[in-house]
Parts: sequence; C-alpha cells; structure tokens
Amino acid sequence: MDDRQKNTHFGFSTVPLEDKQHLVDDVFHHVAARYDLMNDLMSGGLHRLWKDRFVSKLALPRTRRARHLDLAGGTGDIAFRILKKPDYTGSVTILDINGDMLAVGRDRAEKQRLQGKLSFIEANAEELPFAANSFDTCTIAFGIRNVPRIDKALAEIHRVLRHGGQFLCLEFSNVVLPGLDKIYDAYSFHAIPRIGQLVTGDAEAYRYLVESIRQFPAAESFAAMIETAGFARPSFSRLSGGIVAIHSGWKL
Ligand SMILES: C[S@@+](CC[C@H](N)C(=O)[O-])C[C@H]1O[C@@H](n2cnc3c(N)ncnc32)[C@H](O)[C@@H]1O
Repeated sequence: MDDRQKNTHFGFSTVPLEDKQHLVDDVFHHVAARYDLMNDLMSGGLHRLWKDRFVSKLALPRTRRARHLDLAGGTGDIAFRILKKPDYTGSVTILDINGDMLAVGRDRAEKQRLQGKLSFIEANAEELPFAANSFDTCTIAFGIRNVPRIDKALAEIHRVLRHGGQFLCLEFSNVVLPGLDKIYDAYSFHAIPRIGQLVTGDAEAYRYLVESIRQFPAAESFAAMIETAGFARPSFSRLSGGIVAIHSGWKL
C-alpha cells in the first residue's frame, strides 16, 4: 500500500497520511507568535523544568567542533539551553518544518546573542538534508508526535547521528500516577482549549495538541519503536507522574 492509500490520526480525527503534515503546519502557523507564552500558561511554567531536566540528560561532547541537531526545534528552547551550558563549546543546528516557528526562534536567538553558534534549517524530519554521521547528538522535544511517519524520522535520526552518538526525545506520555489521570484529562480537554481561545483566538489548534498527546504511544511502545529504528540501549524516564517522558537511545 502506498502512502496515498493510508490513513493516520490528526488529533482524534482520521485523515489520509499524506494530509497530516499540512494540517500540523497550519496549527503551528497559527500559534507561532504566541507559542512560548502559551507553553508557560498551559503548563504553569512546568515545561521549563522538563526541558532543563531533558538537556541535563544529554551526553554532549566537550569539543569545539561538537555538532548538535535539535529537530522540530521551533522557537529554540532546547537549542538555547544547550548553548548556555558552560561545558558546551560546539554548535547547534535547529531544524523545523515551519518557517514561522523558526522566525520566532531567530529573533529570540538575536536578542540572547546566541546566533553565532546556531544555524536554522527549514526541513522535514522525515527527510533530513544532512549526510550520514553528521551529528554527535540529536534531540527532539514535543515534536515527534506531530510527525506523520515517526518510523521514517527515527530512521533518519539514526542515519545522521555518528556512531557513539546519543538521541534524546522529550514527549508527552501516558500518566501512570493513580488519580492524576482524571485531573489531567479534565484540565487538558476543558481548560487548555479555553486558554488557547483567549490567548491566540484559536481553540482548535489547542484541541489538536491535547488530542495528539492522547494518540501518542505509551512510553514502553515508543521505546520499542526507538529500538526498531536501530538504536541501542533504549531507555526512558517519566516526569510528573508520566505526563511527559524522556527517551534515550544510542547509535552504536
Ligand atoms: C510543539 S512544537 C515543539 C517546539 C520545541 N521543540 C519546544 O519544545 O518548544 C512542535 C514543532 O514540531 C514542528 N514539526 C512538525 N512536524 C515536523 C516535521 N515533519 N519535521 C520537522 N518539524 C516538524 C512544528 O513546526 C513545531 O515547531
């Protein structure tokens, strides 16, 4: 079966696989200008702690020539954290399919005087425009669930990482703390679209974000996908009762 005959989900809707990417792109075109503010409002600032923890788990090389790739890098949150680590002297490439998200990232980088060690690439994570073994480390935060063909993106990440390089993924996951699931559901399905409506005028975009979280595989299943893509030593740790998980794999 070719892609034109396959379906996938876009939030809770079923859509042709080939249509998903432009639906996702519409969401992020709409929210780009308010994306960072919304992250703070929706998570009560928690996303900052998750991202700090995420970056602290990355085994970055300490050489001047170290090359890090941040996929679905959006407005730069992960890349900036990496560049601000005192022991990191290398460069970071931010790749995202959405020019509006990258434009916000570029502005923020200039304000923080970080642009010198950064490059911005507009491309699809399913078809990375890099040679094999180009990067020492690779991250993707809150991005992989938006990618229509996750297996293709994982295979590409494996290809562009050098041997010995680490892949780290931060993504929403399955809540495992008894009782938290009900509170989290009520908050996600009722409060988040309302906050989205108030701040961006677009409740639908935030309904998609909430629904897409529920469609994403549980941490155990996603770890198996990472292993299938060829990564060694797949592991994950849950944060905040499983609201998010950090996945790690190595190209050995
Ligand atoms: C929820 S944002 C995450 C941004 C950032 N990593 C963060 O943690 O704040 C998801 C990002 O994934 C990007 N994206 C969606 N599909 C993509 C694809 N196929 N390839 C690359 N980026 C993609 C979107 O444009 C958006 O910027």
